[in-house]
Amino acid sequence: GTPASHSDIAVTLTVDGIPVSVPAGTSVMRAAAIAGITVPKLCATDHLTAFGSCRLCVVQIDGMRGTPASCTTPVAEGMVVRTQTDEVARIRRGVMELYISDHPLDCLTCAANGDCELQDMAGAVGLREVRYEPGKNHFQRRENDEPNPEWRAKDHSNPYFTFDPAKCIVCSRCVRACEEVQGTFALTIDGRGFDSRVSAGMASDSFLSSDCVSCGACVQVCPTATLIENKVIEVGTPERIVKTTCAYCGVGCSFDAH
Ligand code: FES
Repeated sequence: GTPASHSDIAVTLTVDGIPVSVPAGTSVMRAAAIAGITVPKLCATDHLTAFGSCRLCVVQIDGMRGTPASCTTPVAEGMVVRTQTDEVARIRRGVMELYISDHPLDCLTCAANGDCELQDMAGAVGLREVRYEPGKNHFQRRENDEPNPEWRAKDHSNPYFTFDPAKCIVCSRCVRACEEVQGTFALTIDGRGFDSRVSAGMASDSFLSSDCVSCGACVQVCPTATLIENKVIEVGTPERIVKTTCAYCGVGCSFDAH
């Protein structure tokens, strides 16, 4: 969930009716986990500073307006947290629908298939359809396709990993890992909204020309196949398009089959 607090002061709250006592400063997400309740998440990790960007972890808290992110909300004495209401389920599905509307639908041939948190979360929140027009990252690219200015090129410059910006959900885990784990500031986020993306430094146009020291911390924390080790990438030779629904969610990816 989120990093542990080491405060000596204990705070007691309930999460979905389960009483739990945690150190002051603990996030609601971590308190829920300690109570045995898993809250969906994409941008939070056990070790990186909570960022609150993905909005999948929203919950309802009695006496608090709206649906706060559980990863960035600290516990308070007597707090009553609800993580599984119809309202938060609806919001989480809506958030996931937006992510998937602008994500390549090539799960079944993606190198991260079966080891992708976006895929896991699409299933966890019960995504069944995407009602929005496809975003520009939506369509599957093949290695030999003609360049299209709408597509973001993969960065193969680093010998150990590949960066595929089309699969980036801008969770900022890689940026935080670079800073907090490695102490390097090689990565940043450029742009806003659908145009926002991770980039390897303002003044460089590739990972190799950036301040990246190839430590792999960013690859380790990436929840999708955006940053992925070269050794796990498999390149297929697609021949025909198949529409299918896999075990993870109900969207129905298109994939190229032999
Ligand atoms: Fe809380 Fe992403 S996990 S906003």
